[in-house]
Amino acid sequence: MSTVAGRMAVQAGAHSLEKAQGGAGVLLPGVPGVAPGKVTVIGGGVVGENAARMALGLGAEVTILDKSIARLEVLDDRYQGRIKTVYSTADALETATRESDMIIGAVLVPGAAAPKLITRSMLADMKPGSVLVDVAIDQGGCFETSKPTTHAEPTYIVDGVVHYCVANMPGAVARTSTQGLTNATLPFVLALADKGWQQALRDDPHFLPGLNVHAGQVTYQAVADAFGLESSDPASVVAAN
Ligand SMILES: NC(=O)c1ccc[n+]([C@@H]2O[C@H](COP(=O)([O-])OP(=O)(O)OC[C@H]3O[C@@H](n4cnc5c(N)ncnc54)[C@H](O)[C@@H]3O)[C@@H](O)[C@H]2O)c1
Repeated sequence: MSTVAGRMAVQAGAHSLEKAQGGAGVLLPGVPGVAPGKVTVIGGGVVGENAARMALGLGAEVTILDKSIARLEVLDDRYQGRIKTVYSTADALETATRESDMIIGAVLVPGAAAPKLITRSMLADMKPGSVLVDVAIDQGGCFETSKPTTHAEPTYIVDGVVHYCVANMPGAVARTSTQGLTNATLPFVLALADKGWQQALRDDPHFLPGLNVHAGQVTYQAVADAFGLESSDPASVVAAN
């Protein structure tokens, strides 16, 4: 679903840049003699790379910010300089807000709410009609002025900046999303059906952390923490069955 959301982010953001949507009236690829639009992607994971690829394909000038040097190395190598990679600092974020036509928020800190990387006061430095696409909105959003929206009314404007913050982006392209999700999950469903859940979990270490509760025992630490319960080791619960 991150692949879907990343690819959709640019399509949604490009539409939001149109004048009738409150945008600056910028065509991302530009035209001969007019420079392309600038797209900054914050977070170069699955969402971020897919968004950057789409923006690059449209002919935009693309920069990815990330906190992980290892990830920036992979992206730099993969795109051979066609996408600029920048280590994410307060300074880099300020430059991005001043210069970008579109900023896509695609950060993830596992187990935590997304950090607020662009504050309301920074919006004043953005070009009027520029666009923020907060894909991380399902984790609370990474822009201070983000609030969840729906496909029926996907955008709103704060201080002249268009915000697109749909919490379930893949829902808009349900056919593609369902087919993609089915391809990814079918092998697991077949393993469960063929082997039974106990054997399937014993055979595949990726299954084991998916067990949340069994026979009155909570086997997932974060769920146990959230409800103030004790957690059990899923491997020992499976071994006992
Ligand atoms: N709105 C939707 O429909 C939708 C759909 C799919 C995913 N998402 C959300 O998109 C976000 C990204 O998901 P993903 O699958 O790409 O995650 P990912 O783990 O693949 O990538 C996240 C990246 O963010 C980087 N990062 C973390 N903190 C950072 C910071 N302070 N500055 C810059 N980079 C930082 C990490 O190093 C990592 O490369 C998540 O919040 C996810 O829940 C939303």
